[in-house]
Order: sequence, then C-alpha cells, then structure tokens
Amino acid sequence: MFITSNRVLLLERKHAMRILSIETSCDETAIAIADFTRAPTGARVNVSSHIVSSQTRIHAAFGGVVPNLARREHQQNLVPTLMSALTQAQMLAPQAPARHQAVSVILEREQYLLSLVKKHLLAIDPPPIDAIAATYGPGLAPALWVGVNFARALAELWQKPLIPVNHMAGHFFSALLQKDKKQEASFSIPSVPFPVLGLLVSGGHTELVLVKKPWHFSIIGTTLDDAVGEAYDKIGRLMGLSYPGGPALSHLAAQGDARKYHLPSPMLNTKDYHFSFSGLKTAAFYLIRGLPPATFEAERKADIAASFEKAALDVLVKKTLRAAKEYKAKTVLIGGGVSANRVLRKRLGDTLAHELPACRFLAPDPALAGDNALMIATAAYMTGMKKARNISDVRADANVVLG
Ligand code: KG4
Ligand code: ZN
Repeated sequence: MFITSNRVLLLERKHAMRILSIETSCDETAIAIADFTRAPTGARVNVSSHIVSSQTRIHAAFGGVVPNLARREHQQNLVPTLMSALTQAQMLAPQAPARHQAVSVILEREQYLLSLVKKHLLAIDPPPIDAIAATYGPGLAPALWVGVNFARALAELWQKPLIPVNHMAGHFFSALLQKDKKQEASFSIPSVPFPVLGLLVSGGHTELVLVKKPWHFSIIGTTLDDAVGEAYDKIGRLMGLSYPGGPALSHLAAQGDARKYHLPSPMLNTKDYHFSFSGLKTAAFYLIRGLPPATFEAERKADIAASFEKAALDVLVKKTLRAAKEYKAKTVLIGGGVSANRVLRKRLGDTLAHELPACRFLAPDPALAGDNALMIATAAYMTGMKKARNISDVRADANVVLG
C-alpha cells in the first residue's frame, strides 16, 4: 500500500497534528500519543499517553544491553504497550475484524509480534491520529527493526502516514519541551533564536550539533571512541554499582571529593570539538585496581566517582562553551540520557550564564532525558511532515548520522 502524495500534502498544511510515536532503539519500549498545535510563539503539546516500558532489569544481569534479548522483549512489549497507550488516551474502540494479509507480510520476521497484532489489533478501530512516527536509527539494529516493522504494520492496518525519526533528533527536541506548570501533561515548545548548539550525550553518542536554521543539523564534534554514558556505565560496573552505572555513579560522586584524585579529561585542550573517553576510563580502571579492595570500598569509592565525574564533565562543559562562542550560538541545549545529570545541567547552565549571558540554555525535563517516545513525536512534528513516506521505503538504519 502506498501513501498518496495528496495525503502527505494535506499533512503538511495542518496546524494541528495528533501523532502516535514508537521508540525501540535500545532497551526501552516506548509509545506516546500527543497533540501538537501551532501557537504564535512556537507550539503547544498535549500528551494523552506516554508509556516507557523498560527492560533494564533483564539486561542488568548481563551488565549491558543484549541486542537479541532487546528484540525479543520489544516483540513481547509493543502490543501491550500500545493497548495501554490507546486505553490511556481513551482511543480504544472495538470494530469488525480487519483484513491482515499485508500486515502478515510486513511482520513475517516477527512472528510472535504478528500473533499479538492479530489477537489484539485487528478487532479495534483505527485510532483518531494523523500520523505514526517511529525511530529508525541510530541504535541496535535488531531492536530498531522490530519498532520500524511494527510501525509499518500499523500504518498499513490503519492507513496512516509514517514518519521515520532519527533518535538523536528526538533527544535534541526533548530540550524544547517546556512543561506547563499549571496543566498536567501539557508542554509548550518555544521558538528559539538561532544558531542553536546542542550537546547530545547518551549511552551511544556524544556529539555537538550546530543548527543554523530550522532544522539543518550539522555535527561539529563527536566522540572518537566511547560515548560519555558508556564510560559512566563501564566504570559504574567496575565499581560494583547497579546497572546502568550513570545515575548510580553520579549519585555516589555527590558524596565524594573530586580533589582527592586527579583523573585526565582527554582532549580537553584540542582545538577541535571532538571527544574521547576511553583514556579516562582506563585511568579510572588502573586507579581502582591499584587500591586494596577493602580500602577502595570503605574510603575511596565516592572520591574516585567524584574525580571521574569532574574529569568527564570538565571536557563537555569546556568544549560546549568554546563552540557556543565560536559559532555565536544564541541557544544552547542538552539532550540524551546523560543530560539528566544534575551536575552537568548546573555547571553548563552557570558557565553559560556567566560567560554568555545573552545565550538561552535549555535542558529537558529530567523525566524526558532518557529514551522515550514523546521526544520522537516532537521531532516528527518539528521536522518530519515533509518526510512522511511510503511505508515500504521506511527501513531501520543502525548507524544513521544526524544531518
Ligand atoms: O539516551 P539514553 O537513555 O539511551 C541511549 O540512547 O543510549 O542514555 C542512557 C545513558 C546511560 O549510559 C546512562 O548511564 C546515562 O545515560 N545516564 C546518566 C545519568 N542518567 C542516565 N549518566 C550520568 N548521570 C546521570 N544522572
Ligand atoms: Zn537515547
């Protein structure tokens, strides 16, 4: 089935859009339904469902995400998560069973998911949504494919346009969602002055993204080895902290004294905007291994965590500030799982307020810093209308770069 160009044009002209979005790039199965309305200074967002079903407990036993386990879990979780999302949004209405031949072809590699689709989704009405958005990359290929094929099956079943979304664009736009203090589940999206500089920090990425005009992304710096979240996770694991290591390590760091140990901030003074965290990880590894285990546990753990955090954040803050100055950024934002880190938010916010007081600083609501589907719907609304595609063209791309 092909989405006609008429429908795509109609979609572009609409001022109000209801988007159902799907995120499965890593170990969260997430679905959101949100209404976006254009407002005089940006947009308004009303969220009718927002569900993140985490697989963390399953992967914790392995100390990291196992791609094929993630795939299996997404297959099991997608339909129940969708049913909960539709129930939450009061959009679940029974109808006469629909035909499913095309859906069976789309989901031929996801037989278990297909059985759940047949059991639960063929007998409900297509929900009143304008489009479906789904993360197509970057991420873990087996996990992405399940979400993409599920989105394709829904687009086919419900005859809706499908908008493929870059996961990192999702993290970028999450910073623009300003929570409404008076109204539950409502956000506003301000119109921000350009250029916008984004620091995107997650378990798989560390990148500085420059946006001179809406919405042309250009990556000016990236990590040459580990992502910063990955370094947090690996050192957290070495310290015996709970998985994922980032939040636990940061919590521990708050109780330590960073002056007790010096750990290196790799590439702190290089003239480019690239990052590297493997040297810091190795230095922390030898520091920990060099201490008698009892001493480490009893006295040094929090101090080493604090030194690690300081070394990692020093380089993020310094390079972001230098890029903001060089490119005359009028807005700086952060996004990605690591942007939940309170010290990073405060240090970058304070540094910018002091050095570039005219520059606006935005960070996501901490609940939206990690992987979720609302950020995918937001990115789809902000950038994706023209990208609504023939469903057969939409494919997962594990290594796609923002741009
Ligand atoms: O964006 P995200 O949820 O998933 C990916 O796209 O990778 O990011 C997850 C990463 C993990 O490495 C996790 O340890 C890290 O974000 N993280 C943190 C904090 N909260 C999550 N790192 C440092 N401090 C935190 N508070
Ligand atoms: Zn992410």
